[in-house]
Amino acid sequence: MFSDYNTPWSEARQIIDEKHKFIRCFADHAAVFDLQTAQSCLSIGAGCGESDAFIVSKLMPQLQRYIAVEPDKENIKELVPRVLDALQGRRCLELYHSRIEDAIDRIEGPVDVVLLLEVLYYIKDYETLLQRLKRLLKPGSKIVVSLLRSDSDVVRAVETLGLKTWQDVQQVEALVKILYPNMKASYVSFICTTDVRDTTIGAFSILTANADVGEEKLAKFKELFESPITDYGIEIAIFEI
Ligand SMILES: C[S@@+](CC[C@H](N)C(=O)[O-])C[C@H]1O[C@@H](n2cnc3c(N)ncnc32)[C@H](O)[C@@H]1O
Repeated sequence: MFSDYNTPWSEARQIIDEKHKFIRCFADHAAVFDLQTAQSCLSIGAGCGESDAFIVSKLMPQLQRYIAVEPDKENIKELVPRVLDALQGRRCLELYHSRIEDAIDRIEGPVDVVLLLEVLYYIKDYETLLQRLKRLLKPGSKIVVSLLRSDSDVVRAVETLGLKTWQDVQQVEALVKILYPNMKASYVSFICTTDVRDTTIGAFSILTANADVGEEKLAKFKELFESPITDYGIEIAIFEI
């Protein structure tokens, strides 16, 4: 079950250690991402820009064009100054305050890199999105996708409550492979830790991709854990097409 719900992302990031883990992962595995020659990057669901700012400033020294698609206005307020700062005077930001489904046909290709970091959960028909992205890609372009692993207790608890089902990056890989039979996939992964007792309604809405979750569901979610401090895995796939 996917939804097109979107909400400020900073709140969720305050109660988990994901931000630092993501950035460490990009730094530690820069050679696997191999983005040094990227001149153009499309970030779908760029959020508040913390990951993108790091990627743009440290991993993409040759970037000439950064295109962000983000439907949430509170996220955009954080994203724009952060990314402009990271671009260090390179005046190359294109911003679509929109869902990707509505923006995609207006974006000019080709792009070297598409970032789909922690966003596919919110896109109901991501198979169609992957097909529509094809127009924007060329041989050698990369699609970078991150998703929570489905085998963690956090994911199981959300599924037990019937709020969402998960797709792993391997399922996304299968779809990408149909579109690009010769593509090459690389993976990196890391573990995050959270204390489920700290989960707020806002963070729970993001986790479940559901705006209608209330205190009652959140309380049930917290009850499902034997130990409140729990780990979950994040996998990042780099598909070179
Ligand atoms: C969990 S956040 C991830 C943000 C960022 N990519 C990161 O990794 O820090 C998901 C983002 O996707 C955005 N989003 C939700 N639905 C979307 C859609 N249909 N098209 C584009 N972005 C969407 C949300 O507003 C939110 O900023």
